[in-house]
Amino acid sequence: MTKLAKISFSKAEAPKGGVAVILAGEDLNLGTIANEFVSGLEGGLKRAADIAGFSGKKKTSLDLVAPAGLAVDRLIVFGLGKSEELTQDDWRAFGGAVFAELQKAKTDAASVLLEVPEGVDLTDLATAEFAMGVKLRAYAFDNYKTKAKDDANSKDLKLTLKVVDAKAARKAWSVSEAVADGVIVARNLVNEPANVLGPVEFAKKAQELEKLGVEVEVLGEKEMKKLKMAALLGVAQGSVRPPRLAVMRWNGGKKGVAPVALVGKGVVFDTGGISIKPAGGMEEMKGDMGGAAAVVGAMHAIAGRKAKANVVGVIGLVENMPDGNAQRPGDIVTAMSGTTIEILNTDAEGRLVLADALWYTQEKYNPAIMIDLATLTGAVLVALGNLNAGLFSNNDELADNLLASAKASGEPLWRLPLSKEYDKIIDTPNADVKNTGGRWAGSITAAQFLQRFANDKPWAHLDIAGTAFGAPKDDICQSWASGYGVRLLNQLVADHYEG
Ligand code: BES
Ligand code: MN
Ligand code: ZN
Repeated sequence: MTKLAKISFSKAEAPKGGVAVILAGEDLNLGTIANEFVSGLEGGLKRAADIAGFSGKKKTSLDLVAPAGLAVDRLIVFGLGKSEELTQDDWRAFGGAVFAELQKAKTDAASVLLEVPEGVDLTDLATAEFAMGVKLRAYAFDNYKTKAKDDANSKDLKLTLKVVDAKAARKAWSVSEAVADGVIVARNLVNEPANVLGPVEFAKKAQELEKLGVEVEVLGEKEMKKLKMAALLGVAQGSVRPPRLAVMRWNGGKKGVAPVALVGKGVVFDTGGISIKPAGGMEEMKGDMGGAAAVVGAMHAIAGRKAKANVVGVIGLVENMPDGNAQRPGDIVTAMSGTTIEILNTDAEGRLVLADALWYTQEKYNPAIMIDLATLTGAVLVALGNLNAGLFSNNDELADNLLASAKASGEPLWRLPLSKEYDKIIDTPNADVKNTGGRWAGSITAAQFLQRFANDKPWAHLDIAGTAFGAPKDDICQSWASGYGVRLLNQLVADHYEG
């Protein structure tokens, strides 16, 4: 399979050699340079396009091999559709779709002339978004494929993007590339199997952020015991692998400004514990650390682009296993906040991990806002499928900002309700709260549970059980793990907490 070696930028000019891509709007409407270039094609572009039924419709393409009269080995004309109406989402998708065409062409050198029909604007941001689409589409989790490496068809592609202002495009890409890298960090963590990535190994991955200037602190069992994090520790006690709590701090903003806090569920594997899950599909629970992965990926993006913001990431890392020492249904634990929790189902473990992680975060860092991400409930898949993550919040302004950032980043969110009526469902005669409220409104009662540990701080919870992994493949993601949340969190920080 073709891999992406490098993306570079040069000035917009006619393609020469190798595989070349040019862009066409509807009715085969080309930019000036492309128009001039294809005028050399013997027989003319119009004839080839007519025969192939190509007219520049969105995400269609015309592939001309060894085009007579042109100084390239292959010319791909990629359709933009109505080029006046293009959005950032479109440019990102185009990058992915064009990379897929180049993979089919099995080439190690290609150029894309990023030129649009006259009168249409192509910003540096759109160019960077195109490059982001290329990079994300090119991602494959293939570290464990020992044979593919000798495949004669596997090539490293050097891609040149030809643009009007190469310097400005490089600058925009240096920012976006940090975000793309953050997404890839998250995808790698989620795709990695749990035998390789336990809580200790995951914490080490978080520590790698130190290279980017992030301060990382890792708490072990002893420290967590001292902090009385019995909810988190109760989940971990059935595993032979000890838990960790990793704290990542990026201080790119003004001194003393309260940080944005990102909190992640990091269950490296969720068997369900004593309330064990059915065997079918259980392998997917290697991805039950998707929230923690999104937090590490977002910290990578934010530090990588040197954001002028203070951000703290906190991830609770545990393995949920059945064992002689595992916690039982009926057990009552006292969380760090002092709240007592009756465990009715050991498979509702994510909220127990987050209960202590959230309380610790708000108490220790007094954040301006706190956002947790978790592959928390199967019920959110019933409600929203793979296409939206569920958003819950005790603060309308924060919820609105998140919805706007979701739109801008192309990582969709849908807000679901919270209310004290729902809160009653998790009352129990035996303790302050129970850890499940039954089947109905399962995502909402889970969110109500978390809210009790936000201590009235502006807080939002993103249930990413449907979006972190297993979503349908698309233009920019061919991998099981999507890296969902990284672009969204980065966007929120960029739009509201920087400068
Ligand atoms: N990790 C699961 C939720 C999940 C399910 C994530 C499917 C991704 C895909 C979570 O820990 C869990 O088991 N939740 C239970 C809660 C129930 C016991 C109240 C669920 O959703 O069934
Ligand atoms: Mn579970
Ligand atoms: Zn879980």
